Amino acid sequence: MWKTMSTCNGSDVILTVVIPTYNEADNIGSMLDSVRRVLESNGIECFEIIVVDDDSPDGTHRVAEEKAKEDPRIRVIVRRKERGLAKAVLEGFRNARGEYIAVMDADFQHPPELLPVLLRRAIEDRADIVVASRYSKGGGVEGWSRTRLFMSRFSSILARLLVPRSGRTSDPMSGFFLVRRSALNLDCLRPRGYKILLEILARSGDVRVIDVPYVFRRRRSGSSKLGPGVMLDYILHLMNLSIIAKFMLVGGSGALVNLGVMKMALEYGVLVDISSILGIETSIIWNYILHEKFTFRYNFMGRLKGSLYRLLGYHYTSIAGSVTTYGVMRILYTLINLNPIIAQAIGILTGFMVNYKSSRRLVWRMEVCRGNTRD
Ligand code: GDD
Ligand code: MN
Repeated sequence: MWKTMSTCNGSDVILTVVIPTYNEADNIGSMLDSVRRVLESNGIECFEIIVVDDDSPDGTHRVAEEKAKEDPRIRVIVRRKERGLAKAVLEGFRNARGEYIAVMDADFQHPPELLPVLLRRAIEDRADIVVASRYSKGGGVEGWSRTRLFMSRFSSILARLLVPRSGRTSDPMSGFFLVRRSALNLDCLRPRGYKILLEILARSGDVRVIDVPYVFRRRRSGSSKLGPGVMLDYILHLMNLSIIAKFMLVGGSGALVNLGVMKMALEYGVLVDISSILGIETSIIWNYILHEKFTFRYNFMGRLKGSLYRLLGYHYTSIAGSVTTYGVMRILYTLINLNPIIAQAIGILTGFMVNYKSSRRLVWRMEVCRGNTRD
């Protein structure tokens, strides 16, 4: 029998281990034993393990419930209506009482021996997120084909490009990590698919993230649940998280609006300068509306109240780019008599580059969810 700490009240729980399961009846029993053994032999007694099972047809939750009868530190949550790894993990987070929460698979691909290391590093390094990483020095994968290796590396690079905040770890797709509970804002998480860590990294601001290397082992029993739709789902998730991608999409459409309006104005015989400024102004308003409704849906210019103020604020951030656009257009038009629309297009590109640095800073600031639950 396992000894249990009678003194371990809810508020004393130092670590919650969340284990999502779907058809892991052959693994979950020994997994729970392993986790308990590892934690106890490292002097961690006041922990809890939450198994979140999506009503697996193979009866995983019944095996886990048997274990829970032996040890009150084990809890089993059965979700009967929904399915999905990331949502299951979030459900575990909602129920967790530990100061720290670890997430790991049930199939022994994530070595339980690493749990105390993750916890120790979080405490000693005052980290908010500790990622068990396959790509940190000393880490790796066991028995992967070259194609799978390539896909995994490629996915990380894509994440880094589209969601820069994911670059705070070498393995943003890891399913094995530990977070400090108070560093999480659960209302900000809108998990889809199975990349819950990516979601957390993208939506949290100044959190301290560190990596601990590990080797991703072969599955002990059963098979992976991640099917062919996973890659597409991942890309959609990235696009949804990527303020940069949205920013560029909006910027591109704004450029077209800018040129379209200018062309129309010129055709109506409006002066070149006025046409240029009309184009610029329309595109500023256009971009503003799209950014507010689409790019920064959660928190656009959060501190400025009222849309008129925000519109003015947006004009302010556009000054350098607009002056550059107009200036470059004017110079090219006067000096080499370039077609004004082409001159304006070159102006827009130059203006974009001038704005690039400040836009990046803006994007970086805006990427964070500040608890606004509007969706
Ligand atoms: N509750 C629930 N619901 N659990 C699920 C579901 C689901 O829909 N799908 C999978 N799981 C559980 C599995 O039972 C397992 O314990 C864990 O989530 C991971 O699923 P696997 O099917 O074993 O995924 P994998 O091995 O291909 O990929 C894992 O490792 C990668 C590298 O760390 C996942 O953790 C990936 O997210 C991770 O990138
Ligand atoms: Mn697995």
